[in-house]
Amino acid sequence: MPHIVETIPQAIKIAVLGAAGGIGQSLSLLLKTQLRSTSHVHLALYDVNADGVNGVAVDLSHVDTPVTVSAHSPQTNGMMECLAGADLVLIPAGVPRKPGMTRDDLFAINAKIVTSLADSVAQHCDLGRTFVLVISNPVNSLVPAFVERLAQRVPEGIDASRRVLGVTNLDVIRASAFLHELAIAAHYKPRDNEMPRVPVVGGHSGETIVPLFSLADQAFPLTKDQLQQLVHRVQYGGDEVVQAKNGAGSATLSMAHAAFKCAQGFVALLGGEQEEYQGTYYVSLLDRVGQPIGAGAGKLLALVDGCSYFAVPVSVTVGGGIRDVDYKVVQAMSEYERTSMLPLCFAKLKNGIQAGRDAS
Ligand code: NAD
Ligand code: LMR
Repeated sequence: MPHIVETIPQAIKIAVLGAAGGIGQSLSLLLKTQLRSTSHVHLALYDVNADGVNGVAVDLSHVDTPVTVSAHSPQTNGMMECLAGADLVLIPAGVPRKPGMTRDDLFAINAKIVTSLADSVAQHCDLGRTFVLVISNPVNSLVPAFVERLAQRVPEGIDASRRVLGVTNLDVIRASAFLHELAIAAHYKPRDNEMPRVPVVGGHSGETIVPLFSLADQAFPLTKDQLQQLVHRVQYGGDEVVQAKNGAGSATLSMAHAAFKCAQGFVALLGGEQEEYQGTYYVSLLDRVGQPIGAGAGKLLALVDGCSYFAVPVSVTVGGGIRDVDYKVVQAMSEYERTSMLPLCFAKLKNGIQAGRDAS
């Protein structure tokens, strides 16, 4: 018997800004092929490279999954069409590193790109519903720049700090992958053949990345040297890829995987499959009027020397945006992690946050 046609009750629109780039293409492919939702999902792809984004959208539209795809570029005044009604905006637009560069070397050019995208989001999105995930580097500075530019542009009553999240999930993915690799090399069998999970807090650059191996959900008997090497590898994992690509850019495939996992969580939330979503993101701990965004954020601010942005597990609802953060993960870290890693993180993070604020 043929299926009886009904109208679509609810659709989720995901905008990818920078969709023709290395991350944008791989992420769009994952969203088109792997996303699971009971709602209809539409992917609106935007890039300043008009031919690039048209090609990606046409190519993806031949894939036999229910997700629909459209292309947008400045040549067709496409920003408005791309962002209108968007529930989730993913931003991998910007320049990647080459060997010898730090993420901060990208700041001047990427801050211009990202703050102009914040203007467009303020103009075209309903920030009572839309979430924005910032992938572009340096995340430590671009998230404050984005939040604070948005706050200048949206009406009172809209709290931009609760709707914008910096994507640090690649650090979480790396901590898991590198711990697993070391465990296997040392002949330890992961429990139920599952990947170990490791909380990572702080920021997304060098020593601001604080992997908490003491809180891993699977413990392997590793030496102190092995643990220190693991920490260093997570903190400088980005450089490993930049060097291997030797001038052809930075992490794209692993980053697309990391961002896809974030998007999948938000799609479940937006589609009503769960009321609250929890994930680790780099977020503002203060709301629009300078108050902690929740009781957990108030406690966290005291533990992180007043850093006003921090990567930490957050809980999110559709209507309220970021509701609060899980300070307990910071409270529970080992003495070594607290005394040897956190102070280095704070100093660098505060500089990054200030640079972002100054650029907004
Ligand atoms: P890429 O150069 O391959 O792609 C960037 C894309 O952005 C290009 O297609 C470009 O045309 C587009 N773009 C530039 N300006 C734009 C604008 N104003 N509007 C829309 N699109 C615009 O770079 P990539 O490898 O995809 O990396 C993108 C960014 O992501 C870099 O800044 C990189 O450092 C960052 N990154 C972050 C993480 C993370 O963990 N958060 C991981 C990897 C890379
Ligand atoms: C990463 O961690 O791989 C990204 O931030 C890209 C980079 O420049 O290292």
